[in-house]
Amino acid sequence: MKISGKTKVCGIIGEPIEHTLSPTIHNAAFEELNLDFVYVPFKVKMGMLKEAIRGVRSLGIIGLNVTMPYKSAVMRYLDDVDLVARRVGAVNTILNEGGSLIGYNTDGIGALNALKENGVTINGKNLLLLGAGGAGKAIAFHTAQEAAKLAILNRTLQKAKKLAEALRKEFGNKKIICKKLSAETVKEELKDTEILINATSIGMHPNTDQSPVTSGLMRPDLCVMDIVYNPPETKLLKDAKAAGAKVVSGVEMLVYQGAASFEIWTKHTAPVEVMKKAAFDKLSEFGVKH
Ligand code: ATR
Repeated sequence: MKISGKTKVCGIIGEPIEHTLSPTIHNAAFEELNLDFVYVPFKVKMGMLKEAIRGVRSLGIIGLNVTMPYKSAVMRYLDDVDLVARRVGAVNTILNEGGSLIGYNTDGIGALNALKENGVTINGKNLLLLGAGGAGKAIAFHTAQEAAKLAILNRTLQKAKKLAEALRKEFGNKKIICKKLSAETVKEELKDTEILINATSIGMHPNTDQSPVTSGLMRPDLCVMDIVYNPPETKLLKDAKAAGAKVVSGVEMLVYQGAASFEIWTKHTAPVEVMKKAAFDKLSEFGVKH
């Protein structure tokens, strides 16, 4: 990597940030396309977000990813927030457009593209979405229009209800169902499900023996996607695979949301395969099997 006086700086803000895969993924992509960009992690301490965004303006940082816990809090410091991010109430990507900071959310499109690139179409299908947090909301807004039915289960019922209301308002009288996440509601809703998406953090390292769905409920006609990417093959995906279901790893969503951010910043088509390989290689370095 050659850094010059003209190198454009991108980065990620969050806390903690030490385990992020984004610098690996983006720097591999910049290198592949020979772009004079670099991507670095910025650990932003609690209470320092406003100053960090001021720093983005004063230092002329071109692009930023935003991760926990700042995805919603950052919105008030931006000049504009695009419609999708506004609907979701969270920003994961910022573009510095000649001094004006614009917020985007690429989580939903990342999930959608991960499914599409793996040969899964949403159109006319029954979807079961577990989780109504930031990522869950983004996925819901990107799939509700095309899906025949969208069932949302969340541990905190109120959040699922609020999301379902917003979706009905946006997409009319779609078949949108919301319930509290439990073993019973999963069993009930899974019956007519064609695509199951886990957007909760259940199964994430170190809780790798956990799954939101009992293994006995898996069927070969299901498609199962997990947004958890560490480990790349969660218990949910292992069980789904063992039952003969189609599976899409969280690494795919991570890479496709990153690819969408990359395209916003550089206006170049993202080299997705290179980004994917970089992500898997880095995960192997951490000792994570895939
Ligand atoms: P993200 O941006 O990754 O979506 P988030 O907004 O904190 O992160 O959302 C985390 C999701 O995982 C939420 O749906 C959360 O449920 P609550 O809304 O009830 O908090 C869900 N979640 C996290 N841990 C969970 C657990 N142990 N059991 C069930 N759901 C869990």
